[in-house]
This record gives sequence, C-alpha cells and structure tokens, in this order.
Amino acid sequence: MDKLAIEGGASLAGEIVISGAKNAALPILCAALLTGGTMTFSNLPRLRDVATLLKLLAQMGVCVTPESGEERQAALDASGLNNPCAPYDLVKTMRASILVLGPLLARCGEAKVSLPGGCAIGARPVDQHIKGLQAMGAEIAVEQGYIHARAGRLKGARICTDMVTVTGTENLIMAASLAEGETIIENAAREPEVVDLANCLVSMGARISGAGTDVIRIQGVKKLRGATYAIMPDRIETGTYLCAAAATGGKVRLLKTSAASLDSVIDKLMDAGCDIRFARDAISLQAPARLKSISLRTAPYPAFPTDMQAQFMAINCVADGVATIRETIFENRFMHVAELQRLGADIQIEGNNAIVRGVASLQGATVMATDLRASASLVVAALVAQGETLIDRIYHLDRGYEDMAEKLSALGAKVRRI
Ligand code: UD1
Repeated sequence: MDKLAIEGGASLAGEIVISGAKNAALPILCAALLTGGTMTFSNLPRLRDVATLLKLLAQMGVCVTPESGEERQAALDASGLNNPCAPYDLVKTMRASILVLGPLLARCGEAKVSLPGGCAIGARPVDQHIKGLQAMGAEIAVEQGYIHARAGRLKGARICTDMVTVTGTENLIMAASLAEGETIIENAAREPEVVDLANCLVSMGARISGAGTDVIRIQGVKKLRGATYAIMPDRIETGTYLCAAAATGGKVRLLKTSAASLDSVIDKLMDAGCDIRFARDAISLQAPARLKSISLRTAPYPAFPTDMQAQFMAINCVADGVATIRETIFENRFMHVAELQRLGADIQIEGNNAIVRGVASLQGATVMATDLRASASLVVAALVAQGETLIDRIYHLDRGYEDMAEKLSALGAKVRRI
C-alpha cells in the first residue's frame, strides 16, 4: 500500500494549476446516462473516484472514450445503455455511485443500485433520494442490500427534503429532467457543484431554474441531447492548497481556479492573518509568520464546508490561540484528531466540538489516513511538523486529489511517494 513521506519545514512557494472538481465531475458524468447523444467532457480531474465511476458506467453499456479514464477529456455515449445496475463491489468503494439511481430510473424505467452502507465519517443514509423518487411515482423496494426501483415515465412532484443533501438534490434534478411536468425541490442544496450539474443539464436541453437557491424548479422534457461541457475547478482542492500554504508561512498562486465559491474559506484565512489577492482565474496567498487561530462551524453552502474542516483543524494545531471547531454535517468526522495528536497536537473533543490549542510546533510521526479530507489534514500538518511524517493508506488521497505529491513538490515541499 502506498505511503507518503513528508519532511516538514519548507514554506510552500510558487504556482500550481487546480484540477476539475471531483464533486461536480461525478454527478455530471452520471448525467450522460440521461441521453442517447454523445456527451463530451473536459477539465475532468484524473482521480480514482472518476475512474471508478467510468468503470461503473461502462459496465452498464455506456461507451467511454478513451477507455482508460486517465485523460482530462472523455466522450460518453449511453445510446447502448443495457444494464441499469450498480453492483456492491463498485458502490462500496465510492458512495457517490448512488448518483446513477435517478438518471437510470428516468431513462430506463428501472434501476438496481446497491445501498452504499456506512462509511468512516458516518452512517450517510440515502432515504431522501428514495423518498424524492417515490414522490415522482417510482416504486422502490430495498431487498438484499439493493435498491430496486421501477417506474413508467416519472411524474413531476413537489419535494421537500428533510435536510439539505447534495447528492440527493443532484439525483432528483437529474430524474426530474426527463419527468412529465414540473418538479419543485424545496430545501435544495445550494452547493456550486449542484449549479454546475444544472448548467450541464441545461446545455443538454433540460429546463431548470433556481439552481444555487434552495428552491429548484425543473420542467421535465421528453428527451435530452448530447453536449460538450467543461467541469468547474475544484474549490476543495483550492482550499486545501491555500491551507497548506498558510500553515507553512508560504506564498503561492493557484491557477485555473475561482474564488467565487470559496468566500467562507477565504474569509477564515484572512481572519487568520493571510493576505489573499484575486485575479481572473487565479488566487494568491501570502501567509504571516504565524497564523491566528480561527473558530468555525460547518454547515451547508454558502456556510463553511465540512470538506474543509479537517484542513482547518490542522492549521489551528500550530496557530496562535485556541479555536473551537463545530461539525454539524457528519456525526463522525473527527477521525483525524487522534492522528493529529500523534504529531503533538493539543485537541480536545466535546461532542460535535473540537477545541484546538495551538502549539509551538508539531513533530513528525507515522500516521494513518482514514478518509479523504482527514488525509488532507495530515498532509497539511506533516508539512509544518519537525522531521519526517509517514502517512499510511494514501489511497484515500488518490480518490480526491490529483497528483498531490507532484503538486506539493512543485511548491517546494519535500514529499516522496513510497
Ligand atoms: C456530498 C459530497 C461530500 C460532502 C457532503 C456535504 C459529493 C460526491 N460528496 O456528499 O464531499 O462532504 O456532500 O457537503 O458531492 N443524509 C440523510 N439522508 C439522505 C441524504 C443525506 O440523512 O438521504 C444526511 C447525511 O448523512 C449527512 C447530511 O445529510 O449527515 C448531508 O449529506 P449529503 O449532503 O447528502 O452528503 P453527500 O451528498 O453524500
């Protein structure tokens, strides 16, 4: 199993290019299931999750070119879609596979998708996806770990989700695009990746308004056509490199990205003492000698993203002062705390709150990556720790960060993949 060895102490400096957004690419690739026309995508991130999804789509009869899934461009042709089934062995490695449910049901009238089950950060049920599709007329049974869904043409409905769910909103928008009549999704997720998906669907001929607000209206159409679409930049990858630069007292410029969807993260970094400047498609950060600690509370967009919580925990470990970090989205998203403590961090957990007392320095140690963003926080901490940190199980990082070791090296970090 691959490991990352990081020798801490170097201030990050220089420029890197940010990749396409994982959490936009995954639903947008699933949108290809909705049409018999060819979809051509660009700015795809080269990630394990994308490769896994392309494998899943190919198994359903979608023709993927190039087959490898290792390019930034791909053409998907779902005219030969013949197997509307997502098996457990693929779904268990990537929960986002649930995003095929809505499109398969809308296009084929049936779908058999494995229940994703729990994951390290919490139970993560999909009841809202199921409830919404049922409101649109689907008959859904859960048997032997699989969601079996059937429907004639789905019917537009008014759906109010019990909580804000990102992939739930995306599944329902995709299903509603081919339904008969109008669907209104209330309490919809406002995340930029939902907007990116809606923009892609509109380019395919869907009629959607309100994406980016908490009420989304979709007028179903009979057919969608093929289109060409460029995936938005990854705001979480952008935020992660800003944190890495901030923690190391660095000065970096991130290219091919946008500050538009990062307000809450950028505000916190400025509060911590960073000087941040914006240009068209680029963000520059210059860090102070020592950061001030910054308290935060995660919540759905536009509030502070849960996917940046762990990285901010890492920078608070070495900041001046005491910070309280409150996680409100997932019940078990403090898995990185025990590992950060192995590096010498002073963190106390009280329910959903982590109280982080900044220390003068961390010391390198062997630590274990537990989930995607937890792994990113260990990388940030390792970059400032004295001596070498060995991060085990970095397959989590490969799921969501393209060429992380190469990008960090380009910024002057001493990183080796072992
Ligand atoms: C997405 C993101 C993930 C991010 C998360 C929250 C993708 C591929 N993943 O995950 O990176 O951390 O949003 O911003 O986009 N819930 C239910 N029932 C449901 C659906 C959700 O109880 O049917 C709960 C979840 O357990 C969680 C909360 O709602 O506590 C939010 O989850 P959700 O927004 O659905 O997360 P994902 O879409 O899985």
